[in-house]
Amino acid sequence: MEKTVHVPLGDRAYDVIVGPGLLAQAGARIAPLLRRRKVAVLTDENVAALHLEGLRAGLASEGIEMEALALPAGEATKSWPHFERAVEWLLSQKVERNDVVVALGGGVIGDLAGFAAAVLRRGVRFVQIPTSLLAQVDSSVGGKTGINAPHGKNLIGAFHQPSLVLADTEVLGTLTARDFLAGYGEVVKYGLLGDASFFEWLEQNGPALSGGDMATRVQAVAHSVQMKADIVVRDETEQGDRALLNLGHTFCHALEAATGYSGRLLHGEGVAIGCALAFELSSRLGLCPQEDPSRVRAHIKAMGMKTDLADIEGDLPSAAALVDLMGQDKKVVDGQLRFILARGIGEAFVTADVPKDAVLSVLEDALADR
Ligand code: GLY
Repeated sequence: MEKTVHVPLGDRAYDVIVGPGLLAQAGARIAPLLRRRKVAVLTDENVAALHLEGLRAGLASEGIEMEALALPAGEATKSWPHFERAVEWLLSQKVERNDVVVALGGGVIGDLAGFAAAVLRRGVRFVQIPTSLLAQVDSSVGGKTGINAPHGKNLIGAFHQPSLVLADTEVLGTLTARDFLAGYGEVVKYGLLGDASFFEWLEQNGPALSGGDMATRVQAVAHSVQMKADIVVRDETEQGDRALLNLGHTFCHALEAATGYSGRLLHGEGVAIGCALAFELSSRLGLCPQEDPSRVRAHIKAMGMKTDLADIEGDLPSAAALVDLMGQDKKVVDGQLRFILARGIGEAFVTADVPKDAVLSVLEDALADR
């Protein structure tokens, strides 16, 4: 059932292994990377309670010792104070240049640990063991690492590729339904941005996937990772095509900012709503068939996910205020907002040529439906 996706980046190439039971085999998988049988693990308190002993046993089976630091769970951990604590802790553990840091957790831990590894002793290797669906299909692959700044999300960081990714699909069983489905927003994104047949496969297999069918989970994660790997290999530092991975994210970032990056809207939920809005905008600009936005929305809704602005609890600001929040996005180049639009399902492209009025009217109508 296990699948391996190779990310061919020359001397920084690595494998992403996807399948159930990888935590228990972590020792055998990581051992070839080690000069000495010892690793430092960064994790969060929630993941530690669920999976740290499993990882410890997996490593111990190959005689690998492990020390771990569990940071508080949540987005607030992706900040200077926790980053400093993590780096100081790694130094206190006497992690050497040839050692390996392990990130056990979701996107927050993966991004923070990857950045810590990038700067520790000018760069040590790290292994990602992503425990959320979102981290397995997106953030653990491709080498974007970093923390948030008071000015915005992910504004401080580095490109630092992992040496190995172990995506254990069994651990997805410990996610809440809401967290799982939020991660699924990123899975749908891959079909929408570049593979109509994958989107069709998801329309058919999405329910089995969320119901826990392991073979379907492995297939969906591995396919998403393969698509991401192909894009990252073409454009590692996001000079062009890599921005396709941000389909739905311009809307999403505005909505996340408007909801205070709180539990009102999880990132993957915002991505799903954002994808639906990006297709609505594409259709209104005459770029994609009129039926595409409804098909996108129908699948997201059928999966029981937040689909429309009406599904976000509490007040939202005006359309104009949301457009202003988009201006804070990292994807602004020379003051121009870049959007990912689509010529159809599976055919996304990057453009800076989007009339602001069209964005405003999509948002005004979406807000009016609340
Ligand atoms: N999560 C988007 C990227 O890795 O480029």
